[in-house]
Amino acid sequence: MLEILSEQIDKVLHLTLNRPEKKNAITQAMYQRLADSLNSAAGDFSIRAVVISGNGSAFTAGNDIMDFMNEEITMNSPVFHFLKALHGFPKPLLAAVQGNAVGIGTTLLLHCELIYAAPGASFQMPFVTLGLVPEAGSSILFPRLVGHTKAAEIFLTGRAFGAEEALSMGLINAIEPQPVQRALEVAAQIAEQPPSAVLNTKALLKSQSHIAIENVMLAEGEMFRIALQSEETQGAFIKFMNSRKQG
Ligand code: COA
Repeated sequence: MLEILSEQIDKVLHLTLNRPEKKNAITQAMYQRLADSLNSAAGDFSIRAVVISGNGSAFTAGNDIMDFMNEEITMNSPVFHFLKALHGFPKPLLAAVQGNAVGIGTTLLLHCELIYAAPGASFQMPFVTLGLVPEAGSSILFPRLVGHTKAAEIFLTGRAFGAEEALSMGLINAIEPQPVQRALEVAAQIAEQPPSAVLNTKALLKSQSHIAIENVMLAEGEMFRIALQSEETQGAFIKFMNSRKQG
């Protein structure tokens, strides 16, 4: 079964995380496929916007914990290829969130232009709880969105928040009963706009922060990679996997 589905609908590319039995937890193979899809969409004139969604009850439970325990993560690992492709993606990116968006499931949203979430969506960045540090540029993008104190509270406690709070902090554009359908509709509208103006507008919106984000992503990546080997993190991962085996 393909774990990343890719469908082009007219000028819109729809990428779907398709590992519903594992809440769409993302493996290194899935990261590579996402990176390849974004890189190829970036240079494909027939694609004007991309929508990312998840199949089943969750958007994504974040990095696959087993994968992180078993694979040696280096700065050349697929997860970093994906983050680079995401950060550099020149066309509008939209996301449709239903259910849980954990870890990268929330941080990748900070790179999207438009985000629609179902009423029951839940967002969480439990990096500190797992002995890790924020990733995907979230240590600069999230406080810029919500302010230092709110970002610190959410990162340091690792607490989850719902769609209403995500809307009030500006993380998402709207709460929609059918977020995938809505994201595809809006992507199709944007795809009909003059393409150069769309590309230039996204580039301008990002122009002041592009290099700063790149630098912080490098620092985060290095700290994250080192933290993955720590006893705190390995212990938290083992605890999670054991709790699921018994449950
Ligand atoms: N990595 C690997 N497997 C994962 C996973 C992850 N991040 N998240 C969920 N799974 C697996 C579970 O082990 C379980 O597998 P099993 O059926 O073989 O036991 C399956 O997906 C279903 O998950 P479950 O936890 O039973 O679903 P739930 O609805 O009770 O809870 C979540 C959903 C997302 C709240 C919960 O799975 C969770 O907290 N996941 C971990 C999130 C996380 O810490 N991500 C890492 C960020 S760096």
